[in-house]
Formats: sequence, structure tokens, C-alpha cells
Amino acid sequence: MTEAAEVLERLQTLRAADAPTHGGRVLSYVYDSGRDDLDELADAAATLARPLNGLDPTVFPSIAAMERDLVGFARRMLHGGRSVVGSVTGGGTESCLLAVKTARDLWRAQHPGATARPRLVTASSAHAAFQKAAGLFDLEWDAVPCAPDGTVRATELIGRLGDDAALVVVSAPAYPTGALDPIAEVAAAAADRGMSCHVDACFGGFVLPWWPGVPAWDFRVRGVTSISADLHKFGYAPKGVSVLLHRGRRRHRAQFFATTRWPGYPVVNPTLLGSRSASPLAAAWAITQRLGDPGYAELTASIARVAAEVRSLVDGIRGLTVMGDPAGPAIAVVADESVPPRERVDPHRLADALMAHGWKIQHQPGFRQADGTRIPHSAHLTLTPVLERGMPELGAALRAASDSVRGAPPADPRMLLAALRALGYGDGGRVPGPAAAWRLLRLAGAGRVSATQPMALLMALIERLPAPVAEALLTELLARLSEPR
Ligand SMILES: Cc1ncc(COP(=O)(O)O)c(C=O)c1O
Repeated sequence: MTEAAEVLERLQTLRAADAPTHGGRVLSYVYDSGRDDLDELADAAATLARPLNGLDPTVFPSIAAMERDLVGFARRMLHGGRSVVGSVTGGGTESCLLAVKTARDLWRAQHPGATARPRLVTASSAHAAFQKAAGLFDLEWDAVPCAPDGTVRATELIGRLGDDAALVVVSAPAYPTGALDPIAEVAAAAADRGMSCHVDACFGGFVLPWWPGVPAWDFRVRGVTSISADLHKFGYAPKGVSVLLHRGRRRHRAQFFATTRWPGYPVVNPTLLGSRSASPLAAAWAITQRLGDPGYAELTASIARVAAEVRSLVDGIRGLTVMGDPAGPAIAVVADESVPPRERVDPHRLADALMAHGWKIQHQPGFRQADGTRIPHSAHLTLTPVLERGMPELGAALRAASDSVRGAPPADPRMLLAALRALGYGDGGRVPGPAAAWRLLRLAGAGRVSATQPMALLMALIERLPAPVAEALLTELLARLSEPR
């Protein structure tokens, strides 16, 4: 037995090694509204709902009441009429998984004789959750290459639609590039073919409705059949809550799992889990009640000002540039290829250097697509309202870190690659098991990771390794982190 105070002290010591969740210093993973009152409200609501089990809203009707309000709020925000219904899920990935499962089940019902796996069409910038969904629900992921600026052409996506495709996904916006996909064109083409079209607004769902100058992308658009929007991102709720809305009850019901075919209680699960916490739902409910439409509009206006400032800040840094023309609060920065190499700022060296200034932006490896074109390696910035206060510091840090790395070439993993090739892992034919992967990671100096570790070399290696090898190494890295010592 350990005293409760000591247990909490231990947790505090553990937490001290974490990257800061508040203050805007970490420009990914966390979404700080900058308002302590919202965090306090969320905590209080989460505590009130803590003992509940979301498994059965007939026993705990407060769960259904909060879900009704949240779905109603999201439906109004996304211009859905009364025919739009949906569910609160445990997060973005779960919403995406369920959107795919629903479309697949409807497709199977429409194609009773089909023997082949249906396709899932997305831009290659669509969130990785859709690859996961394709794997879990037995669809063939059909990725349409993007231009190096992160945009995907409507004609390219439309060209892949067809009777054997269960779903096309468009993003609002895509996380890695910040680009808004050509939603209206693709959704209309999907509708003409009687296909499902999901808008993944997990990232932008609670921002774009108030963002200036965004073309219609929600339920106003003909052909959009479902939309996911995360409350634990720009809804400012703690992690574990998202909404998935469908056009039409029939579609929504296809999301459910129900069975009476066992000796226990009748099971009806709208989402993937059975028993589930109601705390994130309650926290999200409380925040949406408190903020309402005007509250979100105000917070979004703040992010839009931050985005304009960050873009002009990057424009003023020689050798660095913003990828494409992002719509919303995701910005990717890349080296400016229009200036000579000695003047370029490598985004991964910049991300490493920024850590010394107390800021963390997210490394994204370059990505070679199916047609051979490459989306360049970049650094991602998620912009949040709290940053408005920290802009002068962020500006100074970005400029100083850029100055410190300008002209330095991208990290070169050639030696490591040669070593991996010599060991037979260069062409993807051989994939290391746990022990070999761990040895390779230590050889690469990546056996231990911390929140402040330079990542440029590891990212360069990931980019060049065959995907199955890189994936095995990263799996090992993460698995070892939580293995008991
Ligand atoms: C566009 C988009 N879709 C889906 C997801 C997955 O969300 P989660 O991490 O909540 O599972 C994300 C996460 O960043 C996202 O940006």
C-alpha cells in the first residue's frame, strides 16, 4: 500500500517529463483555448459524469440527453437539416472507422453478389485512420496522389469513383498539408454515382464553420453523406470525444452493432467500444453549452488572426515557406526551393532547433506517392487561440531558429541506410522482428526517445526506408516504451 499523497506525487514527477499541454508551446496534439474557465468547467463536468457507463443510456438517461444536445449542436453548425443524425464517438479515429464501416455495410447491401473487396478512395493526404479502417473492415485503400503543394485535383478523385468503390473521403482540411479538398465537386460526382462521400472534418469541424472565406463544404453540399468533427480538437474538450453525423437515419443505423444472440443482456453499440466513459462526453457537452455559437466564433477569429500572422512571419523568413494555401488552423512549412540551397531552411532542422527555444512543431517525413511524385518533408503547426498571446515569442523563436539552421542540408541517413541494407532490410522484402528491430533502433541512436530529442535524422531514415521496415521499427520503439522494465 502506498499513501494517496505519495501516489499523486509520483504522478506529478512523471508528468514533469511531458511536453507542456498549455500555453501553445506545443503546436500539435493539444488544443488550448487559452481560457482556464473552460478547462475548469470541463473538469467539473467530467467528474460529475465519471461513475456513469455510456454503454446504456436507458439506465443513465443523462448520457442520451447530453448526446442529443451535442449532435444537435454539431448538426446546426454543419448546416444539417432534421434528416441529419449521428453519434458521439471516442475520437477522430473512431469516427473515421465508423464512417468507413457504415459505407461498407451499405455498399455490401447494395451489391449482394460482390466477391471482391470494395475500394476506399481518398487523397494520399487523408488521415492515416482511413488506412486503418480499410485494413480493419477489409476494403482496398485507393490513394490518389496530391501535388507537391498538398492539393488534390477533383478530376483525379472523381476518376477513381465507380461501382466497386464503397466510399470516397475528402478532408476539411487534411492534417499534413492544411489543404481543403475539392469537396463540392467530389461529393456531387459521388451522388451522381449513388456512392457515399464522407467529409473528414475531424480537424476543421469546430473551426471552419466560423473561418472567413471558406467555400461550402458541409451538409449544404449535395452528395455529402457523413461528416466527422472532433470535439477533443477545436471543440476544446479533453481527449476522447468526437461526433459522426450521417445524412439520413438509415445510414446512421448501419453504423450500429446490435445482437440478441448470446445469453447475456441485449447488446446495442452505436460505436466500437462497449462500456465507455461518459466523462469526455460530459466535458464536451459543458463546453459547447458554455460557448455556443458566439463563443466558437470568437475563438476561431482569434485563430484566424494567428494564422494570418504566422503566414506573414514565415513569408518574412528567407528560405522557409508555407506549403500550398492552407484553409484553417493547420499550416505546414517547407524549405523554399526557389532560393539557392545555402539560403534554405530545412523544416526538420528548424523543428529540432526550435526545441532549444522551448517550442515544438511536428516533423512530417517526405512522402513518395504511388505515381512517384513526392510531397516534401515539412513541419506541421496546429494553431490555437492561446497563441495569440504568444505571437511575439513565437516570431522571435522562429526567426532565431531559422537563422541558426539556414543553409544546413537536410539530415542525411545514408550511413544508417547502408548499414540496414547490409543487414538485408533495404528493399522491404525482409522485415525485422522485435529483437532485430530493437537492435537496429539502438544502432540508429533512437533506442530512447524524449520530448526534446532531435528527430531530423530519424525522419529522414523513415522517409527512405521501405514502409514495412520503417513501420516495424516505429512499432518497436513505441512498444518498448511501455514494456515493464
Ligand atoms: C483530419 C483528421 N482526421 C482524423 C484524425 C484522427 O483523430 P484522432 O487523433 O482524434 O483519432 C485527425 C487527427 O489529427 C485529423 O487531423
